[in-house]
Amino acid sequence: MDKNTITITDNRDGKTYNFDILDATVGPSVVDISTFYKKTGMFTYDEGYTSTASCQSKITYIDGGAGKLMYRGYDISYMANEKTFLDTAYLLLNGELPSKEKLEKFSLEMKKRSYVHEGIKKLYDSFPDYAHPMAILSAGVSALSTYYFKHLKINTPEEYKEMANRIVAKVPTLAAMSYRYSNGLPIIYPDINKGFTENFLYMMRAYPHEYVELKPIEIKALDTIFTLHADHEQNASTTAVRNLASTMAHPYAAISAGIGALWGRSHGGANESVIRQLEMIASVDNVDEYIAKAKDKNDSFRLMGFGHRVYKNFDPRATVLKNIRNELMDELGISSELVEVAEKIEKIALSDEYFIKRGLYPNIDFYSGLILQALKIPKEMFAVIFVIGRTPGWIAQWSELTQQKNIKIARPRQLYTGPIDRTPK
Ligand code: CMC
Repeated sequence: MDKNTITITDNRDGKTYNFDILDATVGPSVVDISTFYKKTGMFTYDEGYTSTASCQSKITYIDGGAGKLMYRGYDISYMANEKTFLDTAYLLLNGELPSKEKLEKFSLEMKKRSYVHEGIKKLYDSFPDYAHPMAILSAGVSALSTYYFKHLKINTPEEYKEMANRIVAKVPTLAAMSYRYSNGLPIIYPDINKGFTENFLYMMRAYPHEYVELKPIEIKALDTIFTLHADHEQNASTTAVRNLASTMAHPYAAISAGIGALWGRSHGGANESVIRQLEMIASVDNVDEYIAKAKDKNDSFRLMGFGHRVYKNFDPRATVLKNIRNELMDELGISSELVEVAEKIEKIALSDEYFIKRGLYPNIDFYSGLILQALKIPKEMFAVIFVIGRTPGWIAQWSELTQQKNIKIARPRQLYTGPIDRTPK
């Protein structure tokens, strides 16, 4: 018998079934169950996909146990500490790190493509002024598909590249506009003389009549946050993007679906929840009470910014951000009750049996919320920042799926547990 197979026995009738095992470059192998229903007449059941690989991918690798994350084979700490977000975006989209010349060309293209159609302003005008920026951004990205539809051709590598580069370049502009509109502030157009991350901070903070000072450490901190969020293999929002891609939907509709998925507080909304929770705890004197609530089985309270579905030892992105947070706090001289509350929670949780036993460590959102607050970015924009970082990953995943042969529409099955035969005879 071929060694690279697995045999399953149905103990009800003793029948056995063989399935192929496919090996990964690194990490767990998978059992190919695509013929499972055909062979056994049964479906497999895995709510939340905890044991299911939904695709083959060459983009990102995570080893949750070892706290390892790689983009196209490069370690996340190397990308975050030695490279910029534009290097990362280029790498995810093209498979290789850019040379100096290629990076300059890519940066120029990002600047040139950063403007959005003036018609978007009319759309944004129609939203109530209390609208959440994530809702506005999702609508803005979806609306982009109306401008790039009529002559839409995505067949050649150049056409793929154009489609991808355009969305990466325009999302920060749409994102900053979402903030300006939801606060009734005048729109600031992109500045062609500024780099990608600097430009976004400028569009957020500037006023038409005022010089805005952006400190290098602030740009570096935000650039690092973008890099750390750039891709994370088959998480909920990427799965949403891939599901839409499998139907041949417009790529910007797929990105808009990703934004919707990311908005949830168990995913991209977590960093906003971290700050809201710290504000609720409010004082170092209240920390013990909330730690006790988090540990109480009968209380649904969870410590936001702790735990991860995949990282059960430490989140390597959190390690990078902890250093950036310390650097930023030192340089900007920021200290607040909130920072003290966060530090106390971190200290207790890292030494508490409940958290250690369950592998609950601070995740990326625990630190990114505090950094974004130090950068004067309001809470409701936190998930939007995540979107800017994640866009190259989403569009790279969309490209990977739509360029493969024999695309299968994503269509899971179910275990039906509802009523039957209720129609009156
Ligand atoms: N505080 C207290 N207890 C927790 C927490 C928490 N934050 N997270 C998990 N637990 C407990 C949970 O009650 C369970 O305990 P028990 O075994 O006694 O029943 C155990 O740990 C395992 O929890 P789980 O819900 O089965 O774990 P999961 O892998 O399904 O959930 C998670 C992962 C991130 C949804 C969850 O840890 C959580 O809700 N964390 C807070 C929200 C958060 O910070 N989310 C951001 C994730 S990182 C961003 C990203 O990459 O998208």
